[in-house]
Amino acid sequence: MRKGNPMNETSEKILEILERQSGPISGEKISEMTGITRSAVWKNINELKELGYSIESTKSKGYELKESTPKLLPHEIKKYLKTDFIGKDIRYFKNTPSTTWVAKDLCSKKDAENFNGTILIAEEQTGGVGRLGRAWFSPSGGIWTTIILKPTIPIDKLFFVTMSASIAVARTIRRMYDIGALIKWPNDIYIGDKKVSGILLELAAEADQIHYCLLGIGIDANIKPEDLQCSLQTPITSLNIEIGHDIDRAKFLATMLGEFERRYKLVEEGEYKAISREWKSLSLTLEKRVRITTPRRTFEGEAIDLDEYGALIIKKDNGKVERILSGDCTPI
Ligand code: BTN
Repeated sequence: MRKGNPMNETSEKILEILERQSGPISGEKISEMTGITRSAVWKNINELKELGYSIESTKSKGYELKESTPKLLPHEIKKYLKTDFIGKDIRYFKNTPSTTWVAKDLCSKKDAENFNGTILIAEEQTGGVGRLGRAWFSPSGGIWTTIILKPTIPIDKLFFVTMSASIAVARTIRRMYDIGALIKWPNDIYIGDKKVSGILLELAAEADQIHYCLLGIGIDANIKPEDLQCSLQTPITSLNIEIGHDIDRAKFLATMLGEFERRYKLVEEGEYKAISREWKSLSLTLEKRVRITTPRRTFEGEAIDLDEYGALIIKKDNGKVERILSGDCTPI
């Protein structure tokens, strides 16, 4: 078994044969094409079935792929992925405390440079981490992923990496489902007045040098209303609720990674203005009256701009202008 891939190479070869074939194909033919015995074919077919592929087997005709798996397997994502480096290495976990922890562990063992663009995916997280140290509820059906990145930009421009991710998630929802998703500062994706996705960037750096950063993206994709864990502070929704049915998570994730990579490259080229312009055009926060909550205080004012470091500029009722770098911001 390859690391982080629940599908062995032989099963993957057989799956590719079944995917190319229209109609059934005999075990004997697959055995000829792969150079393994018929009983090994049968064993691998059973492994594919266990991974969620619906394969019909009949004694007279052989095997036929009826339906793909609903799991977010690397093989499924790669079918749609059109990136240069993001997601070339995908590591899948059925269940893990947090993909961010797995990524941290990976980067601490070897030079993190080797993992630039690697993504970790979990079907379910038992200890998902959100912004400001909050717990992030991550049941199966969501998209829980961490992208390992080694950006070559100044540390004070890092917010542009999260901005690129927020834009990518919002754009993917808009393009694939024609739903007006927007970005709530700093990096939450909203549909109407409900949160559907959150983004968290963790950084390992020293002085002015970035060792790596971990971009965690959580999307409530195929989660039914009864399985969502709502809090009073943040009303939430899922793509399943908004669209009325489950989405193809592999296609969504691959599309989103493509949208992200395109903008991430712009950030690396120093095209901050282009990113800022697009972020502002998708903002749910700007030109709104908002309540700002930081660990020390709460106040209200108008969100008038975003500065070149990603700080939110608030004009308070007394006319004073403040820069907010972290905290919660709620349109009121
Ligand atoms: C937020 O608080 O809005 C940010 C949530 C980020 C959640 C993602 S899910 C994948 C990755 N693993 C985690 O434990 N957290 C991030």
